[in-house]
Amino acid sequence: MKPLVYITRLLPEEAIESLKDVATIKMWDKPDIPVPRDVLLSEAKEATALLTMLTEQVDEELFNQMNNLKIVANMAVGYDNINVKLAHEKDVVITNTPDVLTDTTADLTFALLMATARKLPEAATYIKQNQWTTWSPFQLAGTDVHHKTIGIFGMGRIGEAVAKRARGFDMTVLYHNRSRKPEVEKELGATYCSFNGLLELSDFLVCLAPLTEETKGIFNENAFQKMKQSAIFINASRGALVNEEALYHALTNGEIRGAGLDVFEKEPVSADHPLVKLDNVVALPHIGSASYETRMKMATLAANNIYAFLKEGKAITPVY
Ligand code: GLV
Ligand code: GLV
Repeated sequence: MKPLVYITRLLPEEAIESLKDVATIKMWDKPDIPVPRDVLLSEAKEATALLTMLTEQVDEELFNQMNNLKIVANMAVGYDNINVKLAHEKDVVITNTPDVLTDTTADLTFALLMATARKLPEAATYIKQNQWTTWSPFQLAGTDVHHKTIGIFGMGRIGEAVAKRARGFDMTVLYHNRSRKPEVEKELGATYCSFNGLLELSDFLVCLAPLTEETKGIFNENAFQKMKQSAIFINASRGALVNEEALYHALTNGEIRGAGLDVFEKEPVSADHPLVKLDNVVALPHIGSASYETRMKMATLAANNIYAFLKEGKAITPVY
């Protein structure tokens, strides 16, 4: 009997083609609604492999109910939705989708930075709502991006790709990372900073670090107080790195100028979310890697990880 693969969202046939030779596939049949927890627990019970989205919590309850589980392929580069420590103990392989989304996510991060600095959503709404009656000197005037200082928190692959873009805008590039990256310092002219130094010196503070025990809530009241009053905070990694109440306070008390947020602590957020309602916030619905090409590559890589594991006993991009 072929092993069972459970896929937690409706994915295009061409992305999961490879799996058909080696597995029986069960797939949740909706593209835009996450599989309900009880359906996942019952339908995937016998599965050897899970192909998950970041909307699924792969936790102790799930591991305990899935006795055949050998691999979880997450269709995301981040995997904070998975209890990796427990997976390790239970000998379950975890894979993510690095590299294929690096440039796409860096593009979005930089676009969000520019949109926030130059008030693009506000300006686009202005004209659509028929408010453009004349040209005026400081109408919709934002702040410059070029020649400013960008501080990258989390110099992984995406951080490097953002640094490259920043260089094209003649920016000074600072970064903070768990470990120093001499090759990035050399190639991209980036300068390593302490976390406090990054907060104090950046005009644009860009958060790209993964969510871990160490980074959870690191952007707190204290951190925002250290930032320049003219600074713009950009988050394109995970919402939980930020204490949202502290960010709200900083944005409404003039401690920082604005924020561009692609991620939130609890997603999805509604139009009523306090941060979304602020004029100096540009909010996006977690679309960092959302180009059609890249989402196809991510889905295919997740499927191919399972294929390689089932066929050859070795996944392509395991996280450890
Ligand atoms: C999306 O946020 C990802 O981690 O790929
Ligand atoms: C993800 O690819 C990262 O390392 O930033």
